[in-house]
Amino acid sequence: MQSGKTIWITGASTGIGAETALQLAQSEVHILVTARSADKLEALEKQAESLPGRITSVPGDVTDQAGMVRLYEQMEKDHGPIDIVLLNAGTYFGDSGTEFSAEKFKQTFDINVNGVANCLEPALKSFLEREEGHVAIVASVAGFRGLPKSVSYGPTKAALINMAEALYAELKPKGIKVQVINPGFVKTPLTDKNEFDMPMLMPVRDAAAALIKGLQSNAFEIIFPWPFVVMVKLIDMLPNKIYLWLVGKLER
Ligand SMILES: NC(=O)c1ccc[n+]([C@@H]2O[C@H](COP(=O)([O-])OP(=O)(O)OC[C@H]3O[C@@H](n4cnc5c(N)ncnc54)[C@H](OP(=O)(O)O)[C@@H]3O)[C@@H](O)[C@H]2O)c1
Repeated sequence: MQSGKTIWITGASTGIGAETALQLAQSEVHILVTARSADKLEALEKQAESLPGRITSVPGDVTDQAGMVRLYEQMEKDHGPIDIVLLNAGTYFGDSGTEFSAEKFKQTFDINVNGVANCLEPALKSFLEREEGHVAIVASVAGFRGLPKSVSYGPTKAALINMAEALYAELKPKGIKVQVINPGFVKTPLTDKNEFDMPMLMPVRDAAAALIKGLQSNAFEIIFPWPFVVMVKLIDMLPNKIYLWLVGKLER
């Protein structure tokens, strides 16, 4: 990553966010890390003390709309303009259609979608004033088509992919780069709960490296691991009848 950049990562206390922050700190950049677990963020800050880059803990809850506006303004006041926002905070309850819960559905949307919106608003305000900036939104291959045990999670990721496409078209002429990140399965606390087989499960270290490489490219969509994502994209093109039959087979 180019020296001197300031990068804000949400959902950076564990998993992909934490590993991405640590790998970015191998360069002379400043990473501001947000999540609810302040203790984990402080530990990350300490871990980076011997690295060329710097990590600063800025705890917060992405579901707190006013809190995210205040946090963003405070970050820019304390640390100067932010160059890149990596909107990564997310959750997965593994909820199924047979035990559908409207409450879980709302909670998933609140963190995964509204949480992104709450962080995006202050970031875009600043980026539009400066006519520069870079927004990267972490969605998932689970957003491509409906999957069992993903009754809430999949729709949140589909919304983010759609949102990123809409933002890309409007913000590119304003000097703002928009990317969407669609990982396959990555080994993190989020997937450690899964009891089903996860094809091509990727170590978090490799996922963060692929994400950082993607951030430095001009691609709109950052996908990894690529053999898995190519397979999913091919499945995505199947007609409903065949797709739903295949998914039904998996479910049994
Ligand atoms: N692992 C995969 O296979 C995979 C695949 C595709 C996409 N993804 C996406 O990648 C992103 C990171 O997931 P991960 O696998 O690294 O999972 P993870 O280790 O569980 O990380 C999730 C992060 O989000 C934070 N978070 C959750 N709710 C929050 C809230 N209300 N406010 C602020 N931060 C919040 C968590 O921190 P606190 O609990 O401390 O707040 C944590 O830092 C998610 O958006 C996920 O959907 C993951």
